[in-house]
Formats: sequence, C-alpha cells, structure tokens
Amino acid sequence: MTYDAIEVVPLTGALGAEVRGVDLSQSLSNRVKSQIHQAFLDHLMIFFRDQTLEPERHVEIARQFGKPAIYPFLKGLDSAPEINVLLKTEADTVNFGGVWHSDTAYKDCPDMGTLLYAHEVPLAGGDTLFANMYMAYEALSDGMKAMIDGLVAANNSDKSYIGGRAAGLRKLEGMKGDMKDRIDTLEAEHPVVRTHPETGRRSLYVNAAHTLRFKDMTQEESKPLIDYLCAHAVQPEFTCRLRWQPGTLAVWDNRCTQHFAVNDYSGHRRLMHRVTIEGDRPH
Ligand code: SIN
Repeated sequence: MTYDAIEVVPLTGALGAEVRGVDLSQSLSNRVKSQIHQAFLDHLMIFFRDQTLEPERHVEIARQFGKPAIYPFLKGLDSAPEINVLLKTEADTVNFGGVWHSDTAYKDCPDMGTLLYAHEVPLAGGDTLFANMYMAYEALSDGMKAMIDGLVAANNSDKSYIGGRAAGLRKLEGMKGDMKDRIDTLEAEHPVVRTHPETGRRSLYVNAAHTLRFKDMTQEESKPLIDYLCAHAVQPEFTCRLRWQPGTLAVWDNRCTQHFAVNDYSGHRRLMHRVTIEGDRPH
C-alpha cells in the first residue's frame, strides 16, 4: 500500500510501524483516517510519537477504530469510563499484562483492538513486546495446520493468576482502588485458528495467559499442544518490541497479535491509559 497522507516506517520484518506526520490532537481528514486504518491492518501494531492526548480525545481516536469497550475488571476514569489507568508504582513488584496474551480473549466477543497511551515511563525498561499471529499460523507445517484447523479452545480470565485475577490485581498498589466490587471469572470458547474479518487472513488464536484447554479435552491432555503453540508463536522472528516515551500512543489489533508487558523496571513508575475496542465473535 502507498501512503501519501501519512508516513509509515516499519519497525521490524514481522510487525509494527511508526506513523509520522499526524497530530492526533487535531481533527483528521478522512484520507488520513483511512490511511491510518490501512496501516493498522498492514502492520498490526502502529504507534505515534510525541502526542498530547487528553482522555476525551483518546476515546475519540479510539472511536475511529470501533466502539470503545468497558473493561470488566477495573473501573475506568470518572470522566471517561472507557479509559483504564495502568499504573505500576515504585513499590509494585508485579505488573499488568506481564504474560503473553491477546486482550480479553475470555470474552465471547473479545476486544478487537487496543489503544495504549504512555504518560510516564521509566528511563529504561517497561517496553511491550508484540507477536504476529498470522506469521505464527503460516509457519506451521501442513500436518499441524490440518490438526488444529477445526479445534476450539476455552479461554479463561484467571488462568495465569495464582489465587485468581482479583488477587493478581490487588497486588498492584496503584490499581487496586480501581477494581470493580464484584469480579467474575470469564471464560469463552474460540477457534484455535481464526479468520480476520477485514483482511480474510488466518491466524493462530491461543495465548499463554488465557488459553486453558481444548473443547472436549482435559487441561492435562491439552497442555502439551497449547504450550507448543504458545512457544512457537513468540519466537523472535515473529515479534517486535516497542520502547515507550511519554506521549507515545500504540494501537494494536488483538485479532492477529498478542503482546507482553516487560516487567524490568523495579523501583520506577510507569503510568499508561488504555482503551480497548469491542470486537465480534471470532470464527
Ligand atoms: C496490556 O496488556 O494491555 C498492557 C500492556 C502494557 O502495559 O504494556
């Protein structure tokens, strides 16, 4: 695709691109909006540097991609409930999202995209890794593709949380005040290989944080293949790494990527605002 209204600079051979020449605080022409959307489909994760985004504008930008979602486990900002504040303080030892995952895979209709905006970041550390799940699927052998093509898996919100998700979130000093009073475990069944509704491409849809077992199989029976697929999907050739700066906005496509927030900045503070976009039922 040729972009003539924006500049798009790829980050790695696998995925990710910086979009330049756009001030997201200003109103955008339809041509710019449609090229940004195309860059999102082409590169799976796009990012913009040096942006100034008030919460209301962050939500407005999110609306260009779809309907902003309400996250089931945390309260949003009073002024903009679609925005979740992801804060890791100097005292926190755990972080939010520090395991490979695709956002809200445990919902019947998982969020299709995420817009994460950096307010405060450590001098070094706190990067986010992303993996291209189209590439992960396409690199499998024909035999493995044939075996997994019809499989369905259960995705659970508590899989990676020892003691449950609520206990995990309560460990975060800066976020426990934002927890919703009643926290349920959510679980949804989705195809292991999904077809992207906009690009028509097939991608692997399993992740270490949420994919618990295959339908009609036990967790023990499912584990070896789930572990294999999860490890296969995040080999370096399929990934990129985003180094944040204050004012960076990243937008990623949860239908064909997964991500991992690196927890390597102990003693430092990181403050992000996150909006996710409602998606449809994977097929
Ligand atoms: C997330 O998992 O959605 C947050 C990622 C991050 O904070 O880098």
